[in-house]
Amino acid sequence: MNLCDLALGKRRRIVFFTGAGISAESGIPTYRGKGGLWHQYNYEEYACQLAFDRNPEKVWDFHEERRAFVARCTPAEGHRIIADIEKHIPGTTVITQNIDGMHQRAGSRNVIELHGSMWRVRCDCNMGVRENNDVPLRSRQCDCGAYLRPDIVWFDDPLDTEVIERAMRAVQTCDLLITIGTSAMVFPAAQIPLIAMQRKVPTIEINPEKTGLTPYYTVFLKGTAGAMLNRLWAHASWTTP
Ligand code: APR
Repeated sequence: MNLCDLALGKRRRIVFFTGAGISAESGIPTYRGKGGLWHQYNYEEYACQLAFDRNPEKVWDFHEERRAFVARCTPAEGHRIIADIEKHIPGTTVITQNIDGMHQRAGSRNVIELHGSMWRVRCDCNMGVRENNDVPLRSRQCDCGAYLRPDIVWFDDPLDTEVIERAMRAVQTCDLLITIGTSAMVFPAAQIPLIAMQRKVPTIEINPEKTGLTPYYTVFLKGTAGAMLNRLWAHASWTTP
C-alpha cells in the first residue's frame, strides 16, 4: 500500500507512537543505537529502584546531568510537525516513551507519557507528584525529609495504570497509527502498535533502520523522523475537519 492509498488527509484520530529516535534530532542520545545511553551507562546502576535505594545521590547525579543537558536542547522538526498536525486534527494523540518533554515544548497538548517525565519528581508522602523544572534542583529532599524520586518508569517498574488506560483508549479508537523512532524492544510499550495492527488500522513506521515489527506495518518509511514526517505532511494536505 502506498501513501496515497492511506488517504492521510482524511484521518481524524491519529496516534503518533514515539521513541528516543524522534529526539535524536534534538541532539538527545537514544538508548540503544550508536552512542546510545545504555552503551555508556549500566542502567542497573542509574535507572532502577534498587540503584536508587542503594545510592540515591549517584542516581540523582546522573539524572540531574540529563535534565541539564535536555534543558539546553530544543524540539526537533519531527516534534514540531506533529504539534502542527494536532492543530489541524484535534483528534491527534501522542503516546511517547520519551521522558524529555520535547513534544510538549513543541506545542503538542494531547501527550501520554508512558515512561513518566524527567520534569516531574515525586514522594511517597501526601505531596505526591509535582512538576519541577529547576536546573539544578533546589533540593533533592522532599519537605518531609525523604529523598525525592524522579517520576520516571524505571526498569522493573510497573507502568501507571491510568496512563496505560489513556493510551489504550487512544490506540483502540485511532484511525491511523504512526510509529517514530523506537526499537520496539521494551514492553509493554512496544505492544501499542500491535493493538492498531490487530484492529486492521493502517500503521506507518518511521525509522532509519528496520525493527522486529517492521514486517507487520502497512508502510515502512526508511528515514529520519523530520525528513519522513515532512514527506507525510507535504503528501497529506491535511484538510481541516
Ligand atoms: N529518526 C527516527 N528514528 C531514529 C532516528 C531518527 N533521526 N535516530 C535513531 N532512530 C531510531 C533507531 O534506529 C532506533 O530504532 O530510534 C530508535 C531508538 O531506539 P532506542 O534507543 O531503543 O529507544 P526507544 O525505543 O525509545 O527505547 C524504549 O527503552 O530504555 C528504555 O525507557 C527507555 O523509553 C525507553 C525505552
